[in-house]
Amino acid sequence: MPILTPTPEPGVPEGAADFGPDDFGAAANAAPASPPPGWPDPQVLQQIANAFFQAGPASAAPEAAPHLVTLPSAPPSPADVPGLPATTLVAQHAPSRPPFAAPDLPPVTIPSVVPTPNIPAPPAPAAVAVPGLPGVPQPGGSPALSLPGLASGFSAGQVPAGLGSVIALDSRRPPVASTAPGDFGGEADGLYFLDEARAHSPVPAAASLPTEPNVPAAPLLPGLPAAPAQAPDFGGISSALSPELVPDLGPQTRPFDPHAIKRDFPILQQSVHGKPLIWLDNAATTQKPQAVIDRLTHFYEHENSNIHRAAHALAARATDAYEAAREKVRRFLNAGSVKDIIFVRGATEGINLVAQTYGRRHVKEGDEIVVTHLEHHANIVPWQQLAAEKGARLRVAPVDDTGQVILEEYEKLLNPRTRIVALAQVSNALGTVVPVKEMVAIAHRHGVCALVDGAQSVSHMAVDMQALDTDFFVFSGHKVFGPTGIGVVYGKKDVLAHLPPWQGGGNMIADVTFEKTIYNGPPERFEAGTGNIADAVGLGAAIDYVDSIGMEVIARYEHELLVYATQRLLTVPGLKLVGTAAEKASVLSFVLDGCRTQDVGAALDREGIAVRAGHHCAQPILRRFGLESTVRPSLAFYNTTDDVDALETALKRIQSSRGYRL
Ligand code: ALA
Repeated sequence: MPILTPTPEPGVPEGAADFGPDDFGAAANAAPASPPPGWPDPQVLQQIANAFFQAGPASAAPEAAPHLVTLPSAPPSPADVPGLPATTLVAQHAPSRPPFAAPDLPPVTIPSVVPTPNIPAPPAPAAVAVPGLPGVPQPGGSPALSLPGLASGFSAGQVPAGLGSVIALDSRRPPVASTAPGDFGGEADGLYFLDEARAHSPVPAAASLPTEPNVPAAPLLPGLPAAPAQAPDFGGISSALSPELVPDLGPQTRPFDPHAIKRDFPILQQSVHGKPLIWLDNAATTQKPQAVIDRLTHFYEHENSNIHRAAHALAARATDAYEAAREKVRRFLNAGSVKDIIFVRGATEGINLVAQTYGRRHVKEGDEIVVTHLEHHANIVPWQQLAAEKGARLRVAPVDDTGQVILEEYEKLLNPRTRIVALAQVSNALGTVVPVKEMVAIAHRHGVCALVDGAQSVSHMAVDMQALDTDFFVFSGHKVFGPTGIGVVYGKKDVLAHLPPWQGGGNMIADVTFEKTIYNGPPERFEAGTGNIADAVGLGAAIDYVDSIGMEVIARYEHELLVYATQRLLTVPGLKLVGTAAEKASVLSFVLDGCRTQDVGAALDREGIAVRAGHHCAQPILRRFGLESTVRPSLAFYNTTDDVDALETALKRIQSSRGYRL
């Protein structure tokens, strides 16, 4: 390929001017016949060099080619990956490279992508007793957590019931469910809140939806009327959740009060367009508590230095802070070792890291990679790119009409060609909590490596690497109240130990000469260059903050708020929820009949309410439901029922201005 093979300057030996794949191959070929003690066989080194660069054998050494085509199935050193030796000829003058590609790259197409069938939802699973906190989404929670009578009311085309599990949240009572979509407590055992008073006060039935008038898609509400000073009273249910609703917090945590929590977040104290800001775009990013902001300031005021490199005091402080953050992440994930924790820019970079290391090493032509229909683009595109490069296929596990993965169909996709399954734990577009624990176990039964994308789960539920048993887990700091530009890859020790580096540079090496490089072990092997030190420290502070509340408490409160919000939104005429799985977290995607989603988003913004409207970087799952975009409020633990009430009120104003009868 001429574009990647620059012509050397006259007089410069071929391979000297530009240091590329063939240089390593040539270096291996040029290595002494008898390598020094401890060095792997030169042919093995050549194989590694070729594998890293996806290059064929060195053209300069055709005689060696027959021996150098395939990788050994096991790394040459049982526990580690050796560095690369190279013979380097220093160029007098290196010619500039031509551009790497034409300005307009053609789209990546994989003809072998398996189309996803639209498979009808399976019958509701049998009822089981729900242990522990009823209804609180658990990581990898089983679909068996669905409740009796729940799915029977669902069918495609009906107004969805929102959360399938409308659960009595009082842990002292058995879980109960509404029996039909939109039926939120017409009966005595409808929806309850945690405290006794509410547990005895069913939420009033949702208003029936009026017949939708034929309203043209005109611009929405040039001027919404001012919001009432007080949130509306719905059937005597206070819009404030009281602290006593939460379980015993333990000595290390503080009493839970969402209003007090909100005061910890300075950005939430401001007004936007003259209205108090209501942040309901938490699936896109979360806001930062003062503790995180202060920690970042402290770092830059007292500790800032590069890490792992110098003998001075600030280097020690910064290194300590950075490595302390790694330990906090380890604890947060219940990982076995800090060596299993790699800092990256975010979940997207983490998935790319895994695709480019594990994926490039193990996926070959004809192999298969399995994802679900729910994935964010970040958990699709890197696998498509890998598949296109390798001649592999991407296969897609379908979802039912509630937006839950159909486990039986997922398992049918796994076969001896499957190399990786990559699964979102929570869907960013629909909020579905995916039973990843079961799905990882199924993958392992088939001998397949599993990656779990925790971008949308880590701020809503406890995650535990020992319980999940996943090979890789990724998340982004900014989704869990930490800074942007920092994220994490967790990898199992044995898996990381055998992975080649992703990027080369400082920090990831143990020793470099012009002839060879010896790599560090994990995690440094995967952290080339100066990382995002301050923001890793900020992420540590965010984890401390979350821990001070307690993830179980957060999960429980958010579930309660999500049930409340679902019920309130279903009283908005012409509103259709998209994503009605029995287990959901945070997200309430919807469309308003006859309205463009961008217009709804803009109208809400004028009320100070921030939501995302669009495709949410998850176009395949929206198209599965026949949509190109939705409006997507998404909750965090600093949101309150007041926020939900304000959203409901604004949406009802939109609809009433368009002729809907409220
Ligand atoms: N992944 C982010 C979202 O869902 C950006 O909005």
